[in-house]
Amino acid sequence: MSLLITNARPYGEDAVDIRIEDGRIAAIGPGLEADGAQVVDAAGLVALPGLVDLHTHLREPGREDAETVETGSRAAALGGFTAVHAMANTDPVADTAGVVEQVWRLGQEAGLVDVVPVGAVTVGLRGERLAELGAMADSAARVRVFSDDGHCVADPALMRRALEYVKALDGVVAQHAEEPRLTVGAQMNEGDRSARLGLVGWPAAAEEAVIARDVLLAGHVGARLHVCHVSTAGSVDILRWAKSRGVQVTAEVTPHHLLLTDECAETYDPVFKVNPPLRSDADVQALRAGLADGTIDAVATDHAPHAVEDKESEWASARPGMLGLEQALSIVVQTMVEPGLLDWRGVADRMSVRPAAIGRLDGHGRPLAVGEPASLLLLDPTHRATVDPAALASRSRNSPYAGRELPGRVVATFLRGTATVLDGKAQK
Ligand code: DOR
Ligand code: ZN
Repeated sequence: MSLLITNARPYGEDAVDIRIEDGRIAAIGPGLEADGAQVVDAAGLVALPGLVDLHTHLREPGREDAETVETGSRAAALGGFTAVHAMANTDPVADTAGVVEQVWRLGQEAGLVDVVPVGAVTVGLRGERLAELGAMADSAARVRVFSDDGHCVADPALMRRALEYVKALDGVVAQHAEEPRLTVGAQMNEGDRSARLGLVGWPAAAEEAVIARDVLLAGHVGARLHVCHVSTAGSVDILRWAKSRGVQVTAEVTPHHLLLTDECAETYDPVFKVNPPLRSDADVQALRAGLADGTIDAVATDHAPHAVEDKESEWASARPGMLGLEQALSIVVQTMVEPGLLDWRGVADRMSVRPAAIGRLDGHGRPLAVGEPASLLLLDPTHRATVDPAALASRSRNSPYAGRELPGRVVATFLRGTATVLDGKAQK
């Protein structure tokens, strides 16, 4: 099947036609002939490589009431993603070849994005002994990213061993950096505001201490380390220092940490409860600057769907986490593109190229060029709409952006030449 996308602007540059044949980009240029191909009018739309998420909670197996691989895949495609890494904190935990293969297969069946399972670092995420890392790497799921996300690999000796094993697998440990002894009972960012609201604080040092420790370990072992959801200015400084010393460390920031601050906690609305917590305005500015200068490599959603009963309770008993897939690109447009901190090539780099490289994904994060897989999205950057949680494809409703007007609408997403989203609607 062939397709002709007309008048699209690759990376926001001059309008061209893009011809797709057999899942690949066959030609790019002005005035291409349709030759019987299905035509998609992309006048005014920016074309970008399909987005890659390093951090998605799909909740299957175990909490299919909150999300399934299929509903999460649909949310991802609508957000412009063509690949997502499915976090391991499912029930059962994705700590064996059997579970990661199950998640991978469910992704293939849904067929909307490439679902790439993350393997747990430790058995049951308990932080006591290493999981079957090699078996997961060798499985059909080809696991390369290992993470106990939701929990920190807190024991430094175990973290060192994990780095050693994962290095041999050409993989990466994605660390949820949180020193657990410093966050017992923590509910929000520690500062004047937590004191005033009477909520136990989560100090920046609990994140920064683990990142500092782990970049030293990664440097010592010569292994790759990836830091999940960096949330503080101090973390950005440590990462900058580590990179300047040649440590193989990469890092991600979430859309919510680029936009929201701990001021949201004043509402006591648990939709704003997340781990790590929303921080100060100075942290937000440092995260944006770190993403702009490349100290932070990637935007990753930490899409964390939760069932109503787990979220609509009092703040202290609500689960941490918020939705992200469907609004991630809009948040990046608002916080990075509109203020001039990133251009469209920068967006492609931080949301597709670098995350694909970190996850060692073939066929994603590729340039929009002849011969490459036709996995791309079309964005209307000028369209503005108000987020209505009831209209989301996710099975959960815990969007922190409800009622906000955001820029940017994903009009179409293509996975290897097949439209997964067209006219803003999922095709399955
Ligand atoms: O807020 C969070 N939610 N942070 C995490 O690390 C885990 C996630 C979840 O699984 O809900
Ligand atoms: Zn986490």
